[in-house]
Amino acid sequence: MSVFRLLVCLFAIGLSRPTAEGLGMNWGTMATHPLPPKIVVQLLKDNGIKNVKLFDADASTMSALAGSGIEVMVAIPNNMLGMMTDYDTARQWVDRNVTRYNFDGGVTIKYVAVGNEPFLTSYNGSFLNVTFPALQNIQNALNEAGVGDTIKATVPLNADVYNSPSSNPVPSAGRFRSNINDLMTQIVVFLNQSNAPFTVNIYPFLSLYDNPNFPFDYAFFDGTSNPVMDNGIAYTNVFDANFDTLVSALKAVGLGNLPIIVGEVGWPTDGDINAKASYAQRFYNGLLKRLASNTGTPLRPNQYIEVYLFSLIDEDAKSIQPGNFERHWGILRYDGQPKFTMDLSGQGQNKMLVPAKGVQYLPRTWCVFNANAQDVSKLGDNINYACTFSDCTSLGYGSTCNGLDTNGNASYAFNMYFQVQNQKDQSCYFQGLAMETTQNPSTANCNFTIQIVSPASSQFLAPLFAVFVSLVIALLLQ
Ligand SMILES: *[C@@H]1O[C@H](CO)[C@@H](O)[C@H](O)[C@H]1NC(C)=O
Ligand SMILES: *[C@@H]1O[C@H](CO)[C@@H](O)[C@H](O)[C@H]1NC(C)=O
Ligand SMILES: *[C@@H]1O[C@H](CO)[C@@H](O)[C@H](O)[C@H]1NC(C)=O
Ligand SMILES: *[C@@H]1O[C@H](CO)[C@@H](O)[C@H](O)[C@H]1NC(C)=O
Ligand SMILES: *[C@@H]1O[C@H](CO)[C@@H](O)[C@H](O)[C@H]1NC(C)=O
Ligand SMILES: *[C@@H]1O[C@H](CO)[C@@H](O)[C@H](O)[C@H]1NC(C)=O
Repeated sequence: MSVFRLLVCLFAIGLSRPTAEGLGMNWGTMATHPLPPKIVVQLLKDNGIKNVKLFDADASTMSALAGSGIEVMVAIPNNMLGMMTDYDTARQWVDRNVTRYNFDGGVTIKYVAVGNEPFLTSYNGSFLNVTFPALQNIQNALNEAGVGDTIKATVPLNADVYNSPSSNPVPSAGRFRSNINDLMTQIVVFLNQSNAPFTVNIYPFLSLYDNPNFPFDYAFFDGTSNPVMDNGIAYTNVFDANFDTLVSALKAVGLGNLPIIVGEVGWPTDGDINAKASYAQRFYNGLLKRLASNTGTPLRPNQYIEVYLFSLIDEDAKSIQPGNFERHWGILRYDGQPKFTMDLSGQGQNKMLVPAKGVQYLPRTWCVFNANAQDVSKLGDNINYACTFSDCTSLGYGSTCNGLDTNGNASYAFNMYFQVQNQKDQSCYFQGLAMETTQNPSTANCNFTIQIVSPASSQFLAPLFAVFVSLVIALLLQ
């Protein structure tokens, strides 16, 4: 090979890794106003993102992805796992949601996620009996359809399916949770047989959120004064420690080399004292450098790790049962605008992601507290009402809009409701307590948003309207 060709090759190798190789994104759509799928797909392409993980196999999302070349993990939601224990139903699901897209110019499906964290302790074991049969049926149906070699069924699991004993809290002591050890063993033996990876979601933020004594720096990647020592290995961050706890749990059941992919990892930017854009930036900066350098973890050194960030876009209709931060996981805001600098190539450059293009906004009209209101005795009730049907999570303790006064709180809540309702007539009334304005009421820290035009927003409004009607009827009947 001539020197010239060698140089060209080296150059090409350099160019072919503009992002941390294979870096993926979770694309969730639990929003009152999801961005149109076509805009999201263009956004992924503009940012060089080639892998995406979905939480369903929604037809409009899939048709936007068709022909893009982006590799996709489609998903079966937990509430469908029971149905998938019937093989014919599983086969039909594979026909409709996988095989159907398997043509030139279709969707490049790489994985089927069977459930989403089905063994979370908060589900009280509801999915323990159905997950493994569903996994087997889906992989068998993929095999039967002739796509099983390239499309693998896996189960994205939360990191609490394994742990180390509190008497020896080091990664090398990792084992599957004792009450599900047999089940986990069956699952990983099956994954190994099908050549499918183990998928795990790892959340350093939640380690910090769940434990006020958790050493703050250990959640990030830039060192800690108190590393965890394990057989001579110094763990300086919880991501590595957690990953290697899983490696040890797999080793304990004879599958220490089973491939692992990280289905979710990320940091939220609002809704908690530790959910801040600056911390998210620090977290991703460290994570992306690590991934780009392919250093792996102490038990799996010098390895590329396949990772999906959680998440691409904020979702203002996610359940906040785990915490207010749930609606703020996006590296992009609800409208596809980046929140902070982030270099996906892992070179740590001070650059912004390419924002969503062609986003249409509602008119620049906000809804605020009416300072001339005579009777404010119902203000609290009206704020509660507005916040029940819209997202007020930025008002809470430690959040971006926490410093507002009572009237500011009211304005924030009224505006969020007004925007969710697409600024519809009468949605800025609140018994005379609210009024529309074209003056932006945002403060330095707190954004009063204008919603976007979204094709799917009516889906959410119909049930909200039904709830509203029944509330009004209930009030009239009192
Ligand atoms: C699978 O496809 C069917 C038919 O298109 C659709 O109704 C269903 O929502 C899809 N399933 C999932 C989990 O997205
Ligand atoms: C789990 O059990 C708790 C307490 O019994 C209950 O409050 C909760 O609703 C249950 N969750 C589910 C998903 O069944
Ligand atoms: C799972 O199956 C076992 C044994 O068949 C049964 O005792 C248990 O109640 C089932 N659990 C659920 C949540 O369905
Ligand atoms: C894992 O899969 C390989 C290849 O199919 C097989 O040889 C090996 O026995 C499997 N390991 C276990 C523990 O099942
Ligand atoms: C505004 O609302 C937040 C969240 O409900 C609350 O913590 C705060 O105390 C309120 N501020 C005032 C001045 O009422
Ligand atoms: C508020 O929104 C603007 C864009 O409209 C953005 O530049 C700014 O970072 C946002 N501020 C906060 C605190 O989210």
